[in-house]
Amino acid sequence: MLFLRMQHDKVLILDFGSQYTQLIARRVRELNIYSEIHPFNKIPTHLEDYKAVILSGSPNSVRGEDALHPDLKGIRGVKPVLAVCYGAQYLAHFSGGEVAPSNTREYGRANLSFIKGNEPFFAHIHTGSQVWMSHSDTIKKLPEHGVLIASTHDVENAAYRINGEETYAIQFHPEVYHSTDGKQLLENFLVSIAGIHQDWTPDSFVEETVEAIKEKVGTDKVVLGLSGGVDSTVAAVLLNKAIGRNLYCIFVNNGLLRKNEFESVLNQYEGMGLNVKGVDASGRFLDALAGIEDPEKKRKAIGNAFIEVFDDEAHKLEDVKWLAQGTIYPDVIESVSATGGPSATIKSHHNVGGLPDFMKLKIVEPLRAIFKDEVRRVGATLGIDPELLGRHPFPGPGLGIRILGDITAEKVRMLQEVDAIFINGLKESGLYDRVWQAGAMLLPVNSVGVMGDERTYEKCVALRAVESTDGMTADWVNLPYEFLQKVSNDIINKVKGVNRVVYDISSKPPATIEWE
Ligand code: XMP
Repeated sequence: MLFLRMQHDKVLILDFGSQYTQLIARRVRELNIYSEIHPFNKIPTHLEDYKAVILSGSPNSVRGEDALHPDLKGIRGVKPVLAVCYGAQYLAHFSGGEVAPSNTREYGRANLSFIKGNEPFFAHIHTGSQVWMSHSDTIKKLPEHGVLIASTHDVENAAYRINGEETYAIQFHPEVYHSTDGKQLLENFLVSIAGIHQDWTPDSFVEETVEAIKEKVGTDKVVLGLSGGVDSTVAAVLLNKAIGRNLYCIFVNNGLLRKNEFESVLNQYEGMGLNVKGVDASGRFLDALAGIEDPEKKRKAIGNAFIEVFDDEAHKLEDVKWLAQGTIYPDVIESVSATGGPSATIKSHHNVGGLPDFMKLKIVEPLRAIFKDEVRRVGATLGIDPELLGRHPFPGPGLGIRILGDITAEKVRMLQEVDAIFINGLKESGLYDRVWQAGAMLLPVNSVGVMGDERTYEKCVALRAVESTDGMTADWVNLPYEFLQKVSNDIINKVKGVNRVVYDISSKPPATIEWE
């Protein structure tokens, strides 16, 4: 259930499992219109809350046994509907039309030609506009009352509407950036045809969320774990605006943060007026990690130590009723699959009986309805330092999964120094914002070097900088040689114990971003 009681016009996106469904929601949100994704077989009961419906694409075929059948009662012919790719094929195939396998490959760019002018659906879009195709079936015959409105060179029935309904169907994907007028097309459908107001803005979100938190939480106490990352910070500032000192933030130093991060971020949090307690538990984490080499065991040890520390701290607070979390919309969507229904959302290996006490609290998740880019916009509206909002992602287990092999205090110190030189170098050279994530790995490898007249036998570090949009796929960044040269020199000259630096040029897949 979403946290907010929305006063805005809403768009319902029915998901048939396409890799692009999230993109549809994001494009709609970029138009300052609120949208929600629901699996095609779990249509919300309060349909009156939604002013338009979009049917997504799908990896399935309408011709196969695994064709997905939504129940469009109360939707089709009642509300404006935009059917994309599978959606368009579905409407055709099961309403008197015909869908067949394509003779030619229909992936990539194509150009629209309109059948006749003056379709409001295509307002402000010119014939020849580039669209993106990704389908292996094609619509051979339109459904009953279907009116063809656009074709491409290879796809005759590229767009149609249904006479007597506000139903539009398109074979291409308006949500991908390569469909150059995709956003205009969505605006034509949602604003001109469906009459939706474009009033979903960061300001309105802040205002409504603060009111909703006040109403929901009242004078209860709330505890929240800050990580130094964007999501938990924005969640904390929103809650602080709503309930002030009744929000108790806990910021744990697990000893695996970046150099000076604990002190500087804690200072920043205090500067923002948050009621925050810094807990330095570095020793406890290092003890828990002693001698562990396996990456998954390290993650588990770090996760368990965090739960223990957080539970201890939460117990020191009296009468806390709520646990706040920085969960964002992609986390919510990813836990619900289009075809399999809701999947398990608890990743923890704890069974319910064994859950720590703080996990039994009621949950408040103020960012549950928004995407990462919206979190940043909301953060900016709240006046959070742009540097904090623009930070690279950093994994929860921190440097613990960037030190290959066992972890010691000395290795952590060494890697913190290396990492600081690399990250500060990126910032000083204006490269930081070109990179999605960067960091250094301390390898369990000693190699021979020579410093002055002395033979050395010291550690090797690998630098990694990647471009990505969501961390799911990534490519290494082509950093300038001069930059790499300077950083490598600085590291070897300044960090005792390191005599070799390498740069990781692997993409994901097949490599991952972290080495462990
Ligand atoms: P990989 O290494 O899987 O990383 O390509 C993708 C993104 O996830 C982050 N990552 C983690 N984050 N706990 C986290 O909170 C983890 O155990 C973890 N492992 C990887 C990684 O930093 C990158 O942003």
